[in-house]
Amino acid sequence: MKDYPQFISPEISGLPNEGKITCTAPSNIALVKYWGKKPVQLPENASISFTLDTCKTITSLSYKKRNIASKDFDFDLLFEGKPKSDFKPKIQSFFERIEEYLPFLKQYTFTIETSNTFPHSSGIASSASGMSALAYCLMQLEKKINQDISDAELLKKTSFLARLGSGSACRSLEGPITVWGSHPDIEGSSDAFAIKFPHTIHHNFKNYQDTILLIDKGEKQVSSTVGHDLMHGHPFAQERFKQAADNLTTLKDVLISGDLDTFIEVVESEALTLHAMMMTSLPYFILMKPNTLSVINKVWEYRKKTGSKLCFTLDAGANVHLLYPDSEKEEVLDFITSELVAYCQNGQYICDKIGLGAELL
Ligand code: PMV
Repeated sequence: MKDYPQFISPEISGLPNEGKITCTAPSNIALVKYWGKKPVQLPENASISFTLDTCKTITSLSYKKRNIASKDFDFDLLFEGKPKSDFKPKIQSFFERIEEYLPFLKQYTFTIETSNTFPHSSGIASSASGMSALAYCLMQLEKKINQDISDAELLKKTSFLARLGSGSACRSLEGPITVWGSHPDIEGSSDAFAIKFPHTIHHNFKNYQDTILLIDKGEKQVSSTVGHDLMHGHPFAQERFKQAADNLTTLKDVLISGDLDTFIEVVESEALTLHAMMMTSLPYFILMKPNTLSVINKVWEYRKKTGSKLCFTLDAGANVHLLYPDSEKEEVLDFITSELVAYCQNGQYICDKIGLGAELL
C-alpha cells in the first residue's frame, strides 16, 4: 500500500507537448519551530509560521514532452540565469521522492530557471521558497493534465509535494499564517501538508512586520538535515515536542485574541529553545554570534523603555527576525537604523512583512 494514495495523479493521457509556467513563492518564519523529523519528512511536532511577502523565489518551469519516456529525470537548472550544478542533487532527490505522485515526470525534459528576491548567501534559507515554488509549478502542470482537481485539492497536494522537498517549504504556499503538523487543537491539521490557520486572525497581526537583520551571511554551520537528526536521541527531545504542542495551543488563542504580550513570550521562548536544542545536542553547536546576543539585549532594553511590542525570533542561524505590529513601524525602523544596524554585517537588513503565499505569474 502506498503512503498517501489520495495524492497519486490519475492515469493521464493527452500530456501537453510544451510550455512554460512561472510562479513565485515566499519564504516563511516559524513562530513555533519544527525541529526534529521522522521519515519521510514528517515533523515530530506541529509548527506555525508567518508567510513572508518580500523574500521570495521566482521559478519558471519549461517543459517539453519527450518522444519516449527517459530512464532518469531530464532537467537543467539555471540560478539567476547561470547553470547551477550544485543545486541539481537536491532537485534530483526531490524528483525521486515525488515521482510516485507525479508519474508524468520522466516523460518531460524540464528547464528550471530560478532566482531569489533576497541577496544570495545572505544566510536566509532559500529552500522553503525554492521548493514551494518548484512544487507550485509542477502542480500547475498537473492541473493542465488533471483538470478535475479542485483548487483545494491542488493546494493541498502542492503543500504535500513541497514538504517532500524541504519540510518548512510546505508552509509557504498560503498565508498569512499556516500550520503544519497534526495538532488536536487545529482542525484539519496534518503531518503530510500545511493548512491555512483556520480561524479569524486578530487585527493586531494585520500587516505584521518582519525586519530581518543580516548578522552573519556565512555558510550555515549546520544544515537543517543534520540539525533535525540531532533530535534523535536528544536528552530533551520528548519534553521539547510536548512544549511545542503546548505553545501552539497558546499561540492559537493569541492569534485570535490579539494578546501581544503572550505572543512575545511564546515566540522568543521558541527561538531560544530552538538554539538551546542545538547547544545541548551531541555534537553541540552555537549558531548565534555575539551580535545576535547584542541585538536581543537591545530589543529587551527597548521594550522595557518604550513599552513597545517588538520581539525577535531566530532561524537555525545567527540572523535575527524582528517582529512588530504595523502600528509601530516608524518608531521601530528608527530604532533599527539608529541602534541595530551597527550589528548587521555590512549594515544589511531586509524589511519584510506577513504575506499571502505562492502565486502564478
Ligand atoms: O525545512 P527545514 O528542514 O529547512 O527546517 C527548518 C527548520 C527551522 O527553520 C529552524 C524551523 C522552522 O520551523 O522553519
